Amino acid sequence: MKFYIEKDYKGMSRKAADLTADKINQKKGMILGLATGSTPIGLYQKWIEKCKKGELSFRDVKTFNLDEYLGLPKEHSQSYWTFMQEQLFQHIDIDPTNVRIPCGDHEDPEEHCKEYERELDACGGVDLQILGIGRNGHIGFNEPGESFENETHVVRLAEDTRVVNSRFFDDLSEVPTHAITMGLKSIMKAKEIILLASGDEKSEAIYRTLFGEIDSDTPASILRLHPNVSMIVDEGAAAKVKGQI
Ligand code: PGA
Repeated sequence: MKFYIEKDYKGMSRKAADLTADKINQKKGMILGLATGSTPIGLYQKWIEKCKKGELSFRDVKTFNLDEYLGLPKEHSQSYWTFMQEQLFQHIDIDPTNVRIPCGDHEDPEEHCKEYERELDACGGVDLQILGIGRNGHIGFNEPGESFENETHVVRLAEDTRVVNSRFFDDLSEVPTHAITMGLKSIMKAKEIILLASGDEKSEAIYRTLFGEIDSDTPASILRLHPNVSMIVDEGAAAKVKGQI
């Protein structure tokens, strides 16, 4: 595992953009795995800047997002579909038919999960997966206790995750209780993974990911079993591991 400590959120985002832009340009037909949340927004802004300057193109890229709230139609202001349009897709040269995000209001979510995984596999899997991490160590919406063997599936959100995410909703009661997420097994199929983390509130999760048991209490700990992972964190998120790596 490669581990980079950057000064702050801006530095983390810049480093992530530097590490990914050439790869995206060079691999024709790249399959990119994307995440939502506050963490990757700075990276997405850097990609947008590069795209506008003609230094980066998503013309041949196909994307798969990690997750989506169950019960929210894509037009909902807090759906991850809306997030991705606003934070990235509207501003880059991607072909909208190459974008995949789990459908939050599918009539048969279980079947939709199977289709999502099948399409992912049929494309040859994700080449480069971007991940954030929850303060409870979740990746995607794979909450503590999730089996390492799960592929794309429906999950019940941890209460901590609902509380953290309620900042985007009017009230906690409006935060969906379930989501569709690529599973830990799906994520581990990616050929390369870049995990980003910023801020003190992520420092315990980063510590447990690197030095705790590899088990489902800290879902991100499974990444230690992957051959090609880079973690880019800022000083806040690195606070508990600095000096030990
Ligand atoms: P955040 O969420 O980027 O908003 O902190 C990360 C996550 O929960 O995976």
